[in-house]
Amino acid sequence: MGAHLVRRFFQSVAARPPDPAEEAWLMGLLNEAEQRHYRQMSRADRSHAVRSARCPALADDAQRVAAALHDVGKNRAGLGTMARVGATVAGALAPRWVRGRWAQYRDHPRLGAAMLAEAGSAELTVLWAAEHHLPPERSTLPAALVAALAASD
Ligand SMILES: [Fe+2]
Ligand SMILES: [Fe+2]
Repeated sequence: MGAHLVRRFFQSVAARPPDPAEEAWLMGLLNEAEQRHYRQMSRADRSHAVRSARCPALADDAQRVAAALHDVGKNRAGLGTMARVGATVAGALAPRWVRGRWAQYRDHPRLGAAMLAEAGSAELTVLWAAEHHLPPERSTLPAALVAALAASD
């Protein structure tokens, strides 16, 4: 498990709700369907979304929206923190044995991209949701953009 996942685990366990003013700022960047998806996220995921959107590496609001919504597919699996750890570890050790909601959690990039495409999100938002767990060299986005978005995650 990478340092990223370890950090995310502790952020999830210690999750405080995002600052209301920060959430209001982010809502101003999202369309109505995106706002509905955001509100359905867990407290930990909303904190992660707002923190990602505020990363100084991001250049404009289109990138901030993409950063905020990249994990929206996790809504579909609806797992708590410990089950997410289980899904992540099991997925790393024995991916073919992972089923049901754990498999949906592992599949959150594809599910999220489909949700965002349906929500009328910008192409960058859909692509980053789909590709945010790919190795950077396999991304269809420009390398500098991938670097900025990855820094925000
Ligand atoms: Fe993710
Ligand atoms: Fe993330």
